[in-house]
Amino acid sequence: MTIKVLFVCLGNICRSPTAQGVFAKKLVDKNLKGMIQVDSAGTGDWHKGKAPDPRAIAAASAKGYDISGLRARAVGLDDFNTFDFIMAMDHENLANLRAMCPTGFKGEMGLFLDYAEDIDEDEVPDPYYEDEKGQGFLRVLTLVEKASAGLITHILRRHRL
Ligand code: 4NP
Repeated sequence: MTIKVLFVCLGNICRSPTAQGVFAKKLVDKNLKGMIQVDSAGTGDWHKGKAPDPRAIAAASAKGYDISGLRARAVGLDDFNTFDFIMAMDHENLANLRAMCPTGFKGEMGLFLDYAEDIDEDEVPDPYYEDEKGQGFLRVLTLVEKASAGLITHILRRHRL
């Protein structure tokens, strides 16, 4: 059985593709790639088919992650059949996911940062409207790295792996 994880933000060009890239690299590093799969999507569809924001690509690249090949898509109803863990970047996206979630969804849905140790915030702040320097994007990376480590530990425990 493959465990499937979906990261969700608003546009799927900043936070959730960053989470996907970081999480995917951790899976490779921990030799878990065959066991856990990862994807990302947005609750909005304005950026469908687009690559991540150049600032997100640059910030990820500075920390050793290549997210340039990812393309944005919107969350669909099928995702609730496909994914075991659906992780929202903030309360608004979680509320939107809950509103569209079919009854009978058997997975776990929640805030990604709930899995980050030593972090008081529970939302990954939206960096989209920040300036060119992209400090917000670096903050996203820090948060997402911590939450990814915690989520992997949680999944392994949960599935007794
Ligand atoms: P994301 O950031 O949800 O982290 O991908 C955003 C990207 C685009 C927009 C908002 C947030 N937008 O309004 O187009």
